[in-house]
Amino acid sequence: MIDLNQIFPKESDIPQQYKIPQHIEQREYLINGELRTWTGPLNSVVSPVFVKNGDSIEQKILGSTPLLTSAEALHALEAAVSAYDQGKGQWATSSVATRISHVEMFLEKMRGQRSEVVKFLMWEIGKSLKDSEREFDRTCDYIVDTVKALKELDRHSAKLVEEQGFMGQIRRVPLGVALCMGPFNYPLNETFSTLIPALIMGNTVVFKPAKFGVLLIRPLLEAFRTSFPPGVINIIYGRGRETVGALLETGLIDLFAFIGTNKGANDLKKLHPKLHRLKAVLGLDAKNPGIVLADADLDNAVRECVSGSLSFNGQRCTALKILFVHKSILTEFLERFTKAISTMKPGVPWDEGVQLTPVPEPGKVQYLDELLKDAVGKGARIVNEDGGAQHHTFFYPALLSPVTSAMRIYSEEQFGPIVPVVPFTDDHEPIEYVKNSNYGQQVSIFGRDSAEVAKFMDAFVHQVGRINLNVQCQRGPDTFPFNGRKDSAEGTLSIADALRVFSIRTIVATRGTDENKSIIGKIIRNRESAFLSTDYIL
Ligand code: G3H
Repeated sequence: MIDLNQIFPKESDIPQQYKIPQHIEQREYLINGELRTWTGPLNSVVSPVFVKNGDSIEQKILGSTPLLTSAEALHALEAAVSAYDQGKGQWATSSVATRISHVEMFLEKMRGQRSEVVKFLMWEIGKSLKDSEREFDRTCDYIVDTVKALKELDRHSAKLVEEQGFMGQIRRVPLGVALCMGPFNYPLNETFSTLIPALIMGNTVVFKPAKFGVLLIRPLLEAFRTSFPPGVINIIYGRGRETVGALLETGLIDLFAFIGTNKGANDLKKLHPKLHRLKAVLGLDAKNPGIVLADADLDNAVRECVSGSLSFNGQRCTALKILFVHKSILTEFLERFTKAISTMKPGVPWDEGVQLTPVPEPGKVQYLDELLKDAVGKGARIVNEDGGAQHHTFFYPALLSPVTSAMRIYSEEQFGPIVPVVPFTDDHEPIEYVKNSNYGQQVSIFGRDSAEVAKFMDAFVHQVGRINLNVQCQRGPDTFPFNGRKDSAEGTLSIADALRVFSIRTIVATRGTDENKSIIGKIIRNRESAFLSTDYIL
């Protein structure tokens, strides 16, 4: 029997290096290269971690952030629009090498804030120390690889092409003003995976941090301010509808990078008065299934499914959110899965070896409980001891079986530690599930028979963006394309793809006559154009 009362610490149990100052009142926000001070109302930032005090227990209040209004959001937009200056601005016209040097300057300063950012990742979203460090380091690697990919891309463009009597140069140029918004589960990594490519390609940006994981951007504000020219990056806070809604309504946003729900994305996109002018890059809902076939290597399948469904408490867009398990191996699978859950350590993020932590969304534990009750009421059983046990913001993983289409958990994205198992005998069941789903991000197949595996693969290649064989669903490696179909995504991201998404190819072309060649030659030799150039970046 698990004792959930032991999960939350006393103040004196918190290691010194992970303590944070009492109530951080953030009033700064970044507009036009200036850290402005907000004197209006603030938004309280609450941790998913509770702290014991004698006989009582209280949710830790971390501090507050500015509750800006549409007026400040519009000032940020004005700064971005004027810095871009219809593509004539300093940032958009600067050389790729110059932009890279600014991003590298930022990266160096960012690395200096590692321990601060990691601390806030733990306190604000409840991510374990190990995973928080991994998120930070992966983000730095992403920036390094983005620089490398851009050099490569630029080298390919540093030449003139000749075709059917024409000659010209094809280069990528920025699209304009980008609005970047990330999700709370990867408030650093996912946000920066659009923000950095948007910036490095020469766009100017308005960035609004995720709904949780807001204070962790604060240690980076100065790095942003001092690494980029004024107006190139502007950072705002406040309620999404009020601030972001106002930005989209102006029609001055050219790029919308958003990671959240498809409903949120639809509502926001519609606000733009000229939808065709808005290029959207969206990472949305998903309900990735894991399909465990009768001949699967069970050790591997269980290991991958446990990690796939429960790492960061199932709060990953790529998490395995429903498992189809062949009836012939169901009992064995459930036994092994149950055993694996029982070895997972619950606790607070800095606890050594912790794997299960409290969840940050208000009302989440109640929502998960409703899903469980609905399933149990319709015939499912909670397989593991203590499954679904709750203590404030903590929800102990629940393995549920048999799950049927009548239950909410069959189609709702739980984004939390419930593992629904649908026993099956007919291959059509999981195939039909994927075909009929509103989501189309990824799927995992666990099996050994090549003909059987191939049948499933071919059934899914037109339904989802990635089919994983004997491995859980995931985004990485970051060089792989990351996308989705239906309500799961718009656009494809990877290190190289993101550079393309945030830019457009533009051509200077002419007939290859002697006179035109001479003009082109002069422009290049005399360095008369920022665009037309054969400079080769080293
Ligand atoms: O939340 C969605 C993330 O993109 C998932 O990334 O598969 O590396 O955890 P991950």
